[in-house]
Amino acid sequence: MGKININHNIIWDETKVTYEERCKNLGQQGIVVWFTGISGSGKSTIAAELEKELIRLGKVVYRLDGDNIRHGLCSDLGFSEEDRNENVRRMTEIAALFKDAGLIVLVSCISPSSKMREFAKKRVGADSFLEVYVKADIDTCAKRDPKGLYEKALRGEIENFTGISSPYEEPTKPDILIVTTHISIEESVKKVMMAII
Ligand code: ADX
Repeated sequence: MGKININHNIIWDETKVTYEERCKNLGQQGIVVWFTGISGSGKSTIAAELEKELIRLGKVVYRLDGDNIRHGLCSDLGFSEEDRNENVRRMTEIAALFKDAGLIVLVSCISPSSKMREFAKKRVGADSFLEVYVKADIDTCAKRDPKGLYEKALRGEIENFTGISSPYEEPTKPDILIVTTHISIEESVKKVMMAII
């Protein structure tokens, strides 16, 4: 019998197609590139440029952006620790499924908890998971403030704002470190591209 859920009446339905067969059809391997960092650090910008470049190269790629997924699948979640953990859990599950389909998956979400990022790595499989820490100091991000959220958070109008009233646990051993106050978007894209192609 296949895998059994905690609910013993739910039994895993085995597929007749292997991961290798899916990858062969697509001519690529599935991988999850997980961009973590505080709001305004540059995660989404880099991931979006990388996605464009990968499409140009004929790759099958999909970007999962925290803000976008929160418009649909995660629209019921807020920014408490519990909700963020659930948000990252759901992002992880979609990323793992897309990876299993053979896609290059670019996830950009703050994912402030190292425990949850560890969970993502384990669920996807360490061999197919790349943690990219997109780093910029809080003052720089607050100055960039592309969505005007830091201004609101500093005025006390947003609760649990990452880096201000909610913690961000920095990755200690990211696969790739990108300090966006030091390198350009183009260089950042190149750095990640070299690791996945
Ligand atoms: S996560 O912490 O659960 O991983 P996620 O990446 O999905 O966060 O969403 C972060 C985005 O939500 C930010 O880019 C920002 O635009 C918006 N946002 C709204 N409220 C907050 C908040 N309290 N803290 C951080 N980001 C917030």
